[in-house]
Amino acid sequence: MNVSGMRHPYLGIDFKFDVKDLASKDPLKQFDAWFQEACDKKVVEEPNAMSLATATKNGLPSVRMVLCKGFSEEGFTFYTNYDSRKGVELAENPVCSIMFYWEPLKRSVRIMGNVEKISEEKSTEYFNSRPYASRLGALVSNQSKVIPDRQTLDDKLKNLQEQYSEDDSIKKPHSWGGYLIRPYEYEFWQGQTNRLHDRLRFRKLESNEKFDSTVMSEGEKDWIIERLSS
Ligand SMILES: Cc1cc2nc3c(=O)[nH]c(=O)nc-3n(C[C@H](O)[C@H](O)[C@H](O)COP(=O)(O)O)c2cc1C
Repeated sequence: MNVSGMRHPYLGIDFKFDVKDLASKDPLKQFDAWFQEACDKKVVEEPNAMSLATATKNGLPSVRMVLCKGFSEEGFTFYTNYDSRKGVELAENPVCSIMFYWEPLKRSVRIMGNVEKISEEKSTEYFNSRPYASRLGALVSNQSKVIPDRQTLDDKLKNLQEQYSEDDSIKKPHSWGGYLIRPYEYEFWQGQTNRLHDRLRFRKLESNEKFDSTVMSEGEKDWIIERLSS
């Protein structure tokens, strides 16, 4: 296969994306506008799928996909097993980077943030709202642990299906729950047909840094906006 020759033209982008084109100068509202579009146009299979990068305390990175299960002024939420690889890394280094990629729209959003666990009550509430198969799945899997074979998972699932019917209440495992990512940086990326892509970054000024109007625009809520070279 000629991988080096694989090139996908970004056709049909007939607008530029500059500070004046933002739906909002509040990055959360800007995210919301792009997310809505990704959902409404129904061209993205899972608009809430995001890659999540974490790192050990020594800086060794790892990345995987997760589903965003909510975003608000507080931050972005996802659910997982706290004992998984990502959980272990977040315990020792509670920062992460997430990325949404909405390919048909030629858009991506990168967010960096501080991470904390959400409350046990909120995790339980969400766990109880999940379908039977998903709740059992959380019980079956010691996520990221080495197991002998596929049969091990299937046997465990079968046992649990015998133990619990669809109507039984299933207790959330203690090791399963949500995380909240509190963003300190956003980058909105709009692909362009001519490959000179548009990149707008929102961040806060450092305490020893001055606002420089030649390269910065004022956003809402103390955010500053900068254009990055494509
Ligand atoms: C589209 C997609 C969505 C996923 N969503 C989640 C999720 O919300 N939570 C989760 O724990 N794993 C999710 N997974 C599985 C993870 O990518 C990963 O295999 C698992 O969480 C273990 O990761 P870790 O060993 O790096 O901790 C998803 C996978 C895909 C492809």
